[in-house]
Amino acid sequence: MRQFLLVGHEAPTTAEFSLEDLPGAGRLDLLARSVTSAFLLSHAIRESVRCRLVLADEFTVRLEGAELRNLRPDERSTAALLRTALEARENAVGSIPAEPTPGVYLHRQGVEGALAAAADEGRLVQLHEDGKPASDVDPPADPVFVLSDHREFTGCEAEFLVQHDTERVRLGPEALHADQAITVAHNWLDTDGWTAV
Ligand SMILES: C[S@@+](CC[C@H](N)C(=O)[O-])C[C@H]1O[C@@H](n2cnc3c(N)ncnc32)[C@H](O)[C@@H]1O
Repeated sequence: MRQFLLVGHEAPTTAEFSLEDLPGAGRLDLLARSVTSAFLLSHAIRESVRCRLVLADEFTVRLEGAELRNLRPDERSTAALLRTALEARENAVGSIPAEPTPGVYLHRQGVEGALAAAADEGRLVQLHEDGKPASDVDPPADPVFVLSDHREFTGCEAEFLVQHDTERVRLGPEALHADQAITVAHNWLDTDGWTAV
């Protein structure tokens, strides 16, 4: 399974935001586009993908490719899916997530909890402009790609990644948006490290 964990430092934690202004809602546009990049192919969904969006270190939305229904390519409808998840926030109690729509789970979990859960399931790989070139790395079997939104990882997040012996991998010479980095990471795996295009 391929996994992505995206830290949304300013993402909303309530459903009180407008779908008409996603950039103003803590860059939810970026998070929505990242979900699309993680799951959607031109005419299919990548079923063996799990994506976690950490919202302001308070909630984590977990999306499961094998269960998702009605994920569409436009960011507005994806943002609506995330808003529906947040409408169910009172149902996320302790370690029990809310399950507002198929394949979408809302956990009362911040960055540390989400990273710990992901680290139990796969190999953490931090995508970072200053990492080791991906062309020099063998793609892991069960990667969990960790990305940040428009902000840098905080000191605490970076420290946690170091504690988990996380490798830093660079996908190219240019700084990309998170959704673009997800597309390139998929391509890296799809082509077995760019050897089988
Ligand atoms: C817009 S960047 C984050 C912040 C950026 N450093 C800045 O100054 O705005 C979003 C994320 O995409 C990923 N990313 C961007 N370019 C990358 C690259 N060349 N290689 C690997 N990951 C990259 C990283 O995970 C990064 O945290």
